[in-house]
Amino acid sequence: MREAILKLLIDNEGKYISGEEVSKKLSVSRTAIWKHINSLKEEGYIIESIPRKGYCLLERPDLLSPEEIRIGLDTTRIGKKIITFDSVSSTNDVAKKLAAEGAEEGTIILAEQQLVGRGRMARNWSSLPGLGIWMSVILKPNIIPPRASQLIFVNAVAVCRAIRNYTGLDVTLKWPNDILYQSKKICGILTELSAEIDQINYIIAGIGINVNQEQKDFPWELQDTAISLKGAGNKNIRRIDLLKEIIKELDCKYDIYLKEGFPLILKEWKILNSTLGQEVNITGRNEKYSGTALDLDEDGCLVVKTEDGDVRRVIVGDVTLRKDN
Ligand code: BTN
Repeated sequence: MREAILKLLIDNEGKYISGEEVSKKLSVSRTAIWKHINSLKEEGYIIESIPRKGYCLLERPDLLSPEEIRIGLDTTRIGKKIITFDSVSSTNDVAKKLAAEGAEEGTIILAEQQLVGRGRMARNWSSLPGLGIWMSVILKPNIIPPRASQLIFVNAVAVCRAIRNYTGLDVTLKWPNDILYQSKKICGILTELSAEIDQINYIIAGIGINVNQEQKDFPWELQDTAISLKGAGNKNIRRIDLLKEIIKELDCKYDIYLKEGFPLILKEWKILNSTLGQEVNITGRNEKYSGTALDLDEDGCLVVKTEDGDVRRVIVGDVTLRKDN
């Protein structure tokens, strides 16, 4: 009921809606409406109540509230269930536990803050309260384990598209799944897999987006290489609206992938990337080398022509663009 009242208020944001109208539309008593309005006010919604005029929603808090996220969200798989926390160790850890306990595909775990947010290559991921989107999505695709890495690209393309749609910023993809704005990192994705030899149990897509940080909010070692959407576009972003766009795009690209396979995703990754054609340094498991990034193959490997003329496929590793060094 609270969700339905909130939806009515949001649909009429800035305008008065009378208690009588709410009561008729939702078949709920005036006392119940009053109680729900009070609990929304306690959460930070600014709602003016004037006798005989009704209620008017003046301002919404930038809280990632599941009931507000669900309003108008019409997805097939992603976000059917949304679980939020004020603070967790890492949303990926929570998602893994829930996935192992049988949580349904598409479940999203969100936290305002992560105490030990993790990045690729065992790096830390700075996750200050309220300034970013720290989320994990549980996927259970019916594909063979060698294909699992394709999901890295499905999710990267979706998040990159969503950021472009919502902010209009010209963000690009760096192999395999960093999202950059003018060579600085705005978003990273940590994809974790649980599988048997012949089947996938679950995949966790852990997405971290720097949204409203000031440059000084980043750890000193990231000051020159990280940026937030606010820093890039010079304006505060309503996280919840961006998040809804991300969920929509994740659902859409995942659907395309399940129905049509990898080629369309690969094609879109190539349109959005800023790695191909560049001089790159590769740090693999046990080696470092330089070369030119030539292509992305159908397994998601980066094809690199090394300085001594060999053509190599990078399966795992870190890529830096040499122009940025
Ligand atoms: C990277 O670029 O190294 C990946 C960063 C991924 C960060 C996100 S934030 C939500 C999820 N929980 C984590 O602990 N990590 C991912």
